[in-house]
Amino acid sequence: MNLKGKNFLKLLDFSSEEIDYLINLAAELKQKKKNGIEHKLCSGKNIALIFEKTSTRTRCSFEVAAHDLGMNVTYLDPDSSQMGKKESIADTARVLGRMFDAIEYRGYEQSIVEELAEYAKIPVYNGLTNEFHPTQILADFLTIKEHFGRLKGINLVYMGDARYNMGNSLMVGCAKMGVNFTACAPKKYFPDQKLIEICREVAKETGAKLEFCEDTKAATKGADVIYTDIWVSMGEPICVWEERIKDLSDYQVNESVMENAGQNAVFMHCLPSYHDKKTTVGKEMCEKFGRDSLEVTDRVFESAQSIVFDEAENRMHTIKAVIAATLG
Ligand code: CP
Ligand code: NVA
Repeated sequence: MNLKGKNFLKLLDFSSEEIDYLINLAAELKQKKKNGIEHKLCSGKNIALIFEKTSTRTRCSFEVAAHDLGMNVTYLDPDSSQMGKKESIADTARVLGRMFDAIEYRGYEQSIVEELAEYAKIPVYNGLTNEFHPTQILADFLTIKEHFGRLKGINLVYMGDARYNMGNSLMVGCAKMGVNFTACAPKKYFPDQKLIEICREVAKETGAKLEFCEDTKAATKGADVIYTDIWVSMGEPICVWEERIKDLSDYQVNESVMENAGQNAVFMHCLPSYHDKKTTVGKEMCEKFGRDSLEVTDRVFESAQSIVFDEAENRMHTIKAVIAATLG
């Protein structure tokens, strides 16, 4: 398997074998780290991290992974680069491409990260766009594999806003890896029809079933993985909260959803999560709309079925695999 020099922009660009290779490489690097075995596979290389939106996991994962691989890191926050404001994407890409060995980008449209990659001529990694969050899916799949021992045939149900980065990327990832995917949401929150068609073609090869269901009981019955994400994503205006709460309240992951899925089901979430009132936004929205939690109840989040912190840790190991495979 040779991924050297490749970008990591979306899972649609990768074959099932390549995705499997990255997940296995992540597991191997995770084991090395746990055993204290050095793996400076990219020694002396330099990576630029461009963040136009905030982050805890993705930024820290890229930084720790790069350091473990023997690399140097430059972090550009939303206010400290010229990109987009005083310098075009193409010009920024050509400048950074002369100085760095790789670039990570988190921000808005997928077209921005695609343009960066076109002009930079060095590997560019998507750290989240409005449309896709591909490094998150690698971590999710490593976590599912660790828990269930396999990916193929697993039934994953995504509840909530399935037409944004997480719903889209999980649908693509599931189609690629033979995981059965159900989007459980009101119709207007189903993924884009064109992307569904593309995934249906992919699924023909892998045997993945793709379903779109408004009925929470029918969708979650017997599921292996119940997955959700926040109802209002970064970059969306605060005013959409009211409509989202109205539309998605019935799709909250709560005890009865988990019970319907069964005791062997796990709960997953890319995080951050509004499962209680301990965040400013969570508190404000819960108080404004008379709720204790938003997309998931605190009891489910804190339950033994919740594997969200294994999932968060795996962000680092899988991002490390992407860097090592494309640069090492
Ligand atoms: N899941 C995820 O991407 O988290 P951050 O926004 O903290 O990077
Ligand atoms: N849908 C969320 C994912 C955060 C990791 C967002 O874009 O804010």
